[in-house]
Amino acid sequence: MTNIASPILLGALLSLAACAAASAQTAPKTVDDATVDKYLASTFGKAPPEWQERIKPDETLMACNKFRNNVPAAEAEKITARETAKLKFPADGKLLGDWKSGAKIANNGRGNQFSDKPGTPAGGNCYSCHQMEAAELSYGTLGPSLTGYGKIWKYDPEVIKRTYAKVYDSQSQVACSNMPRFGANNVLTEAQIKDIIAFLFDPESPVNK
Ligand code: HEC
Repeated sequence: MTNIASPILLGALLSLAACAAASAQTAPKTVDDATVDKYLASTFGKAPPEWQERIKPDETLMACNKFRNNVPAAEAEKITARETAKLKFPADGKLLGDWKSGAKIANNGRGNQFSDKPGTPAGGNCYSCHQMEAAELSYGTLGPSLTGYGKIWKYDPEVIKRTYAKVYDSQSQVACSNMPRFGANNVLTEAQIKDIIAFLFDPESPVNK
C-alpha cells in the first residue's frame, strides 16, 4: 500500500507547494493608468493619427475599465442613459433591409484595419459570439443564441426597434456589454444595420427557418 500511497501523497504535497509559490508570485502588481496608456499607444505607433484616436477609451469605456465591467447600479444607469442619447434611427423609419446582405455582414469578421482603404465596409462578426442560422456550425457562445429570433418574438415591431437599438449601441441596454457598439462607433453603417436586422427578423431569413 505505502508504495502506492506515497507517490500520491508526494504529488499532493508538491502541488500544494506549487500553489503556494504561484499565489506568492501572482500577488497583484498595480500599474498606473498612464503607463498602460503609454504602452498601448506605443504598440500602435505606426497607425495613422485618426486611427490612433480610436485607441482612447471614451467616457463609457473608462467607467467600465475602472470597475472591470462590474459597474455599480448608479454608474450603469449613467452609461445606459449616455449611450441611449447616441441612438440614431433611420430617417425613413424603415428598420428592415435585405436579409441576404445581412447574412453576409453577420458572417464577415473582417474590417477596420488601419491598412484598409478608407470607406471599406466592415463586417459585423456576429457569429463570433452568437448562434444565428441553424445551418451554420461555427459560432461563439459569449452571447445568447439568436436562432429563430424573429419568429420567437413574433416579428413584433417594438422588439425590432429594440433590437435595432441593441445593435446600434449595445450599451444603451446593458452597461459594459461585451458586444460592440456597432452604429455608435461607426463600425457598421445604417444600411448594414438594417440588413442585419432583416437577417434576424425577415420571416424568409434562414435565422427563422
Ligand atoms: C464580442 C461578442 C459579441 C459580438 C461580436 C456580437 N454580440 Fe450580440 N451580444 C453579445 C452578448 C455578450 C450579449 C448578451 C449581453 C448583452 O445583452 O449585452 C449580446 C446580446 C445581443 C442581442 C440581445 C439578445 C437578447 O434577446 O437578449 C442581440 C439581438 C445581439 N446581441 C445581436 C448581435 C448582432 C446582430 C451582432 C453582429 C452585428 C452581434 N450581436 C455581435 C456579444 C456579442
